[in-house]
Parts: sequence; structure tokens; C-alpha cells
Amino acid sequence: MPAPPDFEHMWRQLAPVGRSASSGGYFRQPWTSAETELRSWFAEQCATRGLAVETDGLGNQVAWWGDADVPGVLTGSHLDSVLDGGAYDGPLGVASALAAVDVLRDRGVTPARPLGIGVFVEEEGSRFGRACLGSRLVTGATTWDEAKELRDRDGVFLADAVADAGLDPSRGLLSLDRVGTFVELHVEQGRDLVDRGAAVGLASEIWPHGRWRFDFRGQANHAGTTRMEDRHDPMLTYAMTALAANKQARLSGERATFGRLAVEPNGTNAVPSLVTAWLDARASSDDALAELVASIERQAGDRAGRDGTSLAVTAESVSGSVAFDPGLAARLAALGDWPVIPTQAGHDAGILSAAGIPTAMVFVRNPTGVSHSPDEHAEAGDCLAGVEALADVLAELTGAPA
Ligand code: GLV
Ligand code: MN
Ligand code: MN
Repeated sequence: MPAPPDFEHMWRQLAPVGRSASSGGYFRQPWTSAETELRSWFAEQCATRGLAVETDGLGNQVAWWGDADVPGVLTGSHLDSVLDGGAYDGPLGVASALAAVDVLRDRGVTPARPLGIGVFVEEEGSRFGRACLGSRLVTGATTWDEAKELRDRDGVFLADAVADAGLDPSRGLLSLDRVGTFVELHVEQGRDLVDRGAAVGLASEIWPHGRWRFDFRGQANHAGTTRMEDRHDPMLTYAMTALAANKQARLSGERATFGRLAVEPNGTNAVPSLVTAWLDARASSDDALAELVASIERQAGDRAGRDGTSLAVTAESVSGSVAFDPGLAARLAALGDWPVIPTQAGHDAGILSAAGIPTAMVFVRNPTGVSHSPDEHAEAGDCLAGVEALADVLAELTGAPA
């Protein structure tokens, strides 16, 4: 069998897929042609390594090396991106998993426990609004009956998008029965590793976070003839809410972001009738998150009262706090004297951990900390250090000497 492409070669293969010529960012939304192309790429990479890939009815994928009848170790991440996202968030974990298998083989290692490489779909929730949808469905955290009613921005039902991509959920979803441990390598999305001068780190916890849809309703009216004091303008209620959320989060060391907005009728010369804004909020504990969101909602409601508008808030995606198995993190951190750090970003690893699977995350340094942006970056040397670290972790977990 010819040698499989190394990490840098794989990275070059991935570079053009779903890339915007204008921004240089990525649009790899689930069940679109870019994502379908990535799914085929992953299957080819597995085949090149003599690994048979299983693709479930949603597009989640796994390939196992070794078929021993003992719990295995799964590693991997996701290939979808946020809108205009970076190259590393997700694909780094997948390409590193493939490259780590090559490293283990070059070292002459045969894992005593099976080693799987997996890819979960719609991790970002960029199309259907539910973060980590693939891993949620696989673990049963979300049911298909509920999920199939989700719609994307164009009103397409999830069930139709999946069918249009040639997939059929009635064929069944991946089974995690074989997964004894999950490890996800990911680009760091903050500056903790830079500040510590470390190329690689492990995760201790994920902050709880979620997405809430705020529908502000007012009265459409003429932009010229309606006196300012006669308006019921939902844009004002929204604007004050965005400022209040920012202030509240800054004062408490938490996070609150309105990054998405839809306006009806979206005309320049009319007071809008409806402003829909999505709040992404994160805090260090479940209670703190609930308080943060309740406080923003309360302030929005008060302002709506003054503006003569109305407010309805709907939780669209909520992920509770995740504490990764501390014994596992400490054992793996000792392999490289790696720091163990928290993250405010969500991951499939959090969903598998919440489902009771011992889980660890390996982070690779991001020199600027910028993420969910075309500017997201990791140096090639750090990516290769990540591959070696992942190989060490997998060797430890599959029972073979590192
Ligand atoms: C995923 O990256 C998230 O934290 O939103
Ligand atoms: Mn992300
Ligand atoms: Mn990610």
C-alpha cells in the first residue's frame, strides 16, 4: 500500500474546500456540497490507510483500526464550519487523528484496544441552530423526532436537507457501544497556551453555554411621517438589549454576544415590525448562566415596556457545564507535562462526556486566540506537535507503549 498523505499534504487537500475567494474563510455548512466533499475526503483517507469507514444515516462517520472485542478509544472532531469560519476549528482534529494513526504505525505500535477515528456532523449548529447536533443525536441527548422539525434560515427542514445530501436517518445512527474513551484534538480558541508558552494543553472543563432567540415585535410605520414619540420600534428595544447584555457580561466576567440578526421587513424607510436577534451566552456555572440570561431577558422586557414593543424569548440550544474526567486529564497531561486548561467553547467532546464516556481534549496553541474567523491560525510546527501529542495519548489509552 502506498504511504498515506502526511499531515501537511492532507492540510493542502483540505485548504480549497468551501473556501470563500473574497474573505479566505470557510463555508462548510452541513449537508451542503462542501461538507459532502469533506465526507468523501475522509472516507478516502481512511481507505488509503486500509480502514473501512462507516457513514451513518446523518453523515456521522467512524473508521476502526482493530476489531478486538474490548472497549475502544475514539478520536476525531468535525469538518463543518461556522459561517466564514477558520480552517482549523474541527478539521485540525480530524487530520491530526489520521496523522496520529500514521505515527503509531511508523512507531510499530499495534493497539491492544481498537482505535477509531470519527467525524460528527453539524458541530457548529451553523445551519440548524443546535450545537453539536450529530453527537447529540448519536448519544440520545436529542431525538430525531425533535430534530427533524428544525429548519435552516431558508426554511428547509433538517429531514429534507439530510435527504437531499443522499442520507437516510432511518438507516440508523452510529453506535457508541464500542467507545470506552473519547479524545478530541482541537485548535485552542483563546490565548491560554500562548500565555503559558505551551504548544499543547489538555482540557479541564467546558463552560455551560447556549443560544436564545429574542423576538422583538413592534409596529411597522413610515420613517418620515411617524413622529419619534409615536413609534413602537423593536430595533430600539434590541439595541438597548445588546448594550445591556454586553455590560452585564463584562461586569461579571461572563460572555454575551448578539452575532445574528433578522429584521422584517428590512426596509430603509420603515420602522421595522420585527427584529429577531440571537443571544449566545456563556458563564462559569449553570446557575451563573441561568442568572445571566434571566437578567438580560428582564432588562429587555423592561425596555420593551417603555418602547411599546413585545418580547418573546426561546431557548434554541443549551449545553450544560462539562467537567472532563480529572483523573484521565492528569494521567494524559503527565505524558508531556502539558497544562490543563478550561475552555469557553463547545465541543462534541462535551456531549460524549455528558453521556458518561470518559473523555479528554488536546488543545493546540493558537498564536492570536482568534477563532470562528478567517484569521484563525495555528503554526505548522504546533500542529505537528499536536499530532505527536495525540499519538502519545492514543498509545497510552490503547494500552500500547508510547
Ligand atoms: C463552538 O465552537 C462554539 O463554542 O460555539
Ligand atoms: Mn467552533
Ligand atoms: Mn470545533
